[in-house]
Amino acid sequence: MKTIWITGGSSGIGLATAKEFLFNEWQVIISSSNKEKLENAKKKLSQTQNINLLHIIPCDISNEKNVKDTINHIETHIGKIDLALLNASAYSPNKNQIFDISNYELLIDVNIKGTLYCINTLKDYMNGRNNTIAIISSPLGYRGWPTAGAYGISKAAQLSLSESLYFDFKKLNINIRVICPGFIDTEATRKNSFKMPFLKSAEYAGKKIFDRLTKGKEFEIIFPYLIVYFFKFTRILPYRIYFFIWKQLGNF
Ligand SMILES: NC(=O)c1ccc[n+]([C@@H]2O[C@H](COP(=O)([O-])OP(=O)(O)OC[C@H]3O[C@@H](n4cnc5c(N)ncnc54)[C@H](OP(=O)(O)O)[C@@H]3O)[C@@H](O)[C@H]2O)c1
Repeated sequence: MKTIWITGGSSGIGLATAKEFLFNEWQVIISSSNKEKLENAKKKLSQTQNINLLHIIPCDISNEKNVKDTINHIETHIGKIDLALLNASAYSPNKNQIFDISNYELLIDVNIKGTLYCINTLKDYMNGRNNTIAIISSPLGYRGWPTAGAYGISKAAQLSLSESLYFDFKKLNINIRVICPGFIDTEATRKNSFKMPFLKSAEYAGKKIFDRLTKGKEFEIIFPYLIVYFFKFTRILPYRIYFFIWKQLGNF
């Protein structure tokens, strides 16, 4: 039996993905920073097939010791982690476009430093085992979006990190993969004040993530294709055109 550790598994994409892996007879450990939310997630999953394979362990990924202790606990008492899905993320859109340093600090601590803390401990256990670390980034990391400075830099950092570690971790026999979903209906995106094109459910995302992580080996997993390819395309647009599009969309 294989084991997956999902950070941020108490809601949204993480929770839906946990459900898929459980259904497919994986041992699943979900973590998040809020113990109550995690208990509620367990209740939500209680009707799922193979619920006996679920473990919940509170872990705030922005706390390095907490991350180390959690991974040590899983590896020692539950099972070797075959797949780590680094999904946990803080998200706070800034629709009033006010530069708030504490928001930047929060997103750097959780999304960047938290991801690094997980990788730092995982690599010691996974070294030589042909295991996988999958990082959930976002198309918002492709280019700078208005109102998304803090989130954008954290997601761009995760993308760049994934590309670098794809090369560097080959020596450790650890596979690095990156996931960039389009708009998915979750607690996070319900904070958005704009209409999200091609919005999909968390269940859709969970199924895509399960299928592509377990049935394929590609570095990058994106879905739905149309919208994410559109975001990818904006990467090559000259600033003049990129800024013009945003002006048409929201008078930015
Ligand atoms: N939804 C989308 O459209 C979309 C699109 C592209 C990429 N993504 C990415 O997909 C991932 C999941 O997002 P989502 O939309 O499912 O959001 P979500 O429903 O808000 O879930 C975020 C999860 O992260 C956990 N979390 C937050 N801070 C944490 C911390 N310090 N330590 C540990 N866990 C923490 C939350 O639980 P606690 O509050 O209990 O800690 C929650 O379980 C994120 O990486 C996001 O950037 C989402």
